[in-house]
Amino acid sequence: MPATADDKTPEGSPSPRKISIIVPTFREVESLPALIDRFTMLRATSGLDLEVWFMDDDSRDGSEALVAARGEDWVHFVLRPEDRGLSQAVVDGMNRATGSIVICMDADLSHPPEVIPQMLAELDAGADFVLGSRYIHGGTTADDWGPLRWVNSRIATLLARPFTSVRDPMSGYFALRRGTFNTAQELSPIGYKIGLELIVKCRCRKVVEIPIHFSDREFGESKLTITQQLLYIRHLRRLAMFKYGSWSHLMQFLAVGALGTVVNLAALTALLETRLAEPAAVATAIFIAMCFNFVLNRRFSFSYARHGPWFPQFLSFLLACSLGAGLNLGITVVVLAEYPGTPTQLAALLGIAGGTAVNFLINRYLVFRATHIRVAKPPSTTAAPNRPPDG
Ligand code: GDD
Ligand code: MN
Repeated sequence: MPATADDKTPEGSPSPRKISIIVPTFREVESLPALIDRFTMLRATSGLDLEVWFMDDDSRDGSEALVAARGEDWVHFVLRPEDRGLSQAVVDGMNRATGSIVICMDADLSHPPEVIPQMLAELDAGADFVLGSRYIHGGTTADDWGPLRWVNSRIATLLARPFTSVRDPMSGYFALRRGTFNTAQELSPIGYKIGLELIVKCRCRKVVEIPIHFSDREFGESKLTITQQLLYIRHLRRLAMFKYGSWSHLMQFLAVGALGTVVNLAALTALLETRLAEPAAVATAIFIAMCFNFVLNRRFSFSYARHGPWFPQFLSFLLACSLGAGLNLGITVVVLAEYPGTPTQLAALLGIAGGTAVNFLINRYLVFRATHIRVAKPPSTTAAPNRPPDG
């Protein structure tokens, strides 16, 4: 969205706008003094009207007393005993902050506050969203990042590719205009990736990355656990539903189909080692893959229907698959008969495409139809629940 008069300053003149820095904290008391010192220095050298919001999930480590003792009226401390979580804390802070620009950063001194003026300059130049990035030219991470954490971060980054082409979508250091934040639709923050959530849900078009050096924390410990990583997969699914709507069902169905093919081949390989006759092994492997696909499709691709009775769904799923397979065979045979000279593989591909399409449509609209959604307790007058159907 275009910059408005109140958050854009003509070059050279002092800035009338307020900048709010949101800092989610959990047990970071050792890092806070140095962080506040750096904010103080930044205020003095840049002349920016900065306010800071520590959003603390009840650390009970003396953080609150420490901030109070500093006695700075531009530093706020919010104790959040409920609805804990990094993303929730950030959204909470953004809603409380009064600045026309909101910035989010970690408390553990990993993110350098000194680049804030550069972030503001990018917003003024028309960016919707500015990210402090480790992975663009000039950006670095502390050397003592173990290989595991590095690989982990890279895989997570790759998985975010369908939503944004930025190099460091995992970054927790970012800036945006309040007006942009206010356009966010259906924020459902879970886990760690609030920046990615905002890029997608605020439909940011111009996302600019500026290089930062990501320092390793000196005090305390990281809160990034395996639970957080599982939440990330759930988060990606929600983003897919938001961004791609109905297409996300098809994408999940195709992904399940691809996995099912692997299961089919693995089962076949194992069964061929037994005394089972070849046709029986092939048939059993197909059945195993079908069961596998059913479970995953019911849980993921068509999760809105997962509370429906599973057995009738299973039977109709098998029927849909058989219809798809029959159509697949039919198309292949007809193409070969009608267009002699067509490579058999090409005919087979057309068959697969047709069979899969029909299989998907039957599953989406008949087998797993939306009427399987468990209706909210009466007396409800609204037909559609006001939340994403994936729960
Ligand atoms: N309020 C609140 N509640 N704050 C939290 C919570 C929570 O449940 N969990 C973590 N934090 C705070 C920490 O105190 C810290 O200030 C910041 O959120 C980041 O947490 P770290 O534990 O330092 O996470 P990290 O270093 O592994 O993650 C960093 O890198 C990620 C990318 O690899 C952060 O920058 C993330 O934002 C980033 O996604
Ligand atoms: Mn950290």
